[in-house]
Amino acid sequence: MYNAKITGLGFYVPDNIVSNDDLAKIMDTDDAWIQERTGIKQRHWIKDGSDETSASMGAKAAKIAIERAGLSKDEIDFIVFATLSPDFYFPGCGVQIQDMLDMQTVGALDVRNQCSGFVYALSTADQFIKTGMYKNILVIGSEYHSNGLDKTTRGRGVSVIFGDGAGACVLSRTEDNQKGILSSHLHSQGKYADKLIVESPSIKHWVPEILESDEEDISYFPYMDGTFVFKNAVVRFSEVMMEALTTNNIASTDIDLFIPHQANLRISQFIQHKFKLKDEQVYNNIMNYGNTTAASIIIALSEAWEKGMVKENDIVLLAAFGSGFTWGSVLIRW
Ligand code: ACO
Repeated sequence: MYNAKITGLGFYVPDNIVSNDDLAKIMDTDDAWIQERTGIKQRHWIKDGSDETSASMGAKAAKIAIERAGLSKDEIDFIVFATLSPDFYFPGCGVQIQDMLDMQTVGALDVRNQCSGFVYALSTADQFIKTGMYKNILVIGSEYHSNGLDKTTRGRGVSVIFGDGAGACVLSRTEDNQKGILSSHLHSQGKYADKLIVESPSIKHWVPEILESDEEDISYFPYMDGTFVFKNAVVRFSEVMMEALTTNNIASTDIDLFIPHQANLRISQFIQHKFKLKDEQVYNNIMNYGNTTAASIIIALSEAWEKGMVKENDIVLLAAFGSGFTWGSVLIRW
């Protein structure tokens, strides 16, 4: 059995910054409400008319990660791509990365686990490395939310939260079994699928039916029961963090850096308080990027790494919760 460690990481966000005041010009909202409820000050949204997509942003982040890993694209054995906003209904974004980066005909897998997508993707890649099947795996999280949001007052409870962007890492084989991913923990509860969902287009409700339906049919926009999701998030985050700590016999004081999925600053602060973590043990950047779903953890990890906040031997804990419901954690010794 091998271990898997992150050897390169990077992120990319579109240039176009949308402030809370910008949103207040197109819907009934204001900076104070958004900051108070979510902590978000701005997000990056792909400009209308741009040809940027989840795959193209993912490719940009991936190039940085591969270069930082000191590898060539031809040394990547497999691609895992997490997104809820794929360029196409099918095929997935993973195969587009293979083409965009002009890679060999390596396998490509798409993960559809929304805000837990990156944790699921990293855990999946870890298993392929542990078993010895692959040496270097490209793991990407990328989201193009802005084009699929209801940017009117009707959709304000959801649309102000989400941002566009991508992050990527290279996960590589190591023979040092004290380093890299120490454990990962994945959960789901499909009973609550309808609490955070984009219902259509789906096979049950396909495009012609949407076109024929009245204006009240907004099933192609994300729906979220925010309060219900919030209450479940704080419980599940705590459980799955505890699971990672107890599995590895590690105390919360041993965590050098905790990176929660950037869903809402209030959720992160609640967990920080519950686990009595100091400010320097937690990294949040939702203020600047909003919730970038499958990209949020890897954008935050990349940014923290660029700031020198992740050092050799550090204990890094990642945790996420989101639509599905799905949730999970990954504990890493860097
Ligand atoms: N601006 C101004 N007012 C607003 C806005 C807005 N953007 N959005 C909603 N409101 C209003 C509502 O209409 C409501 O008004 P009312 O009381 O007159 O009916 C009031 O503000 C309160 O609305 P709530 O939805 O109860 O607000 P809440 O405090 O719950 O905050 C939020 C909403 C931020 C969405 C919160 O519930 C949340 O963060 N939930 C969890 C999100 C999450 O973790 N998602 C998981 C990951 S995402 C994924 O997996 C894809």
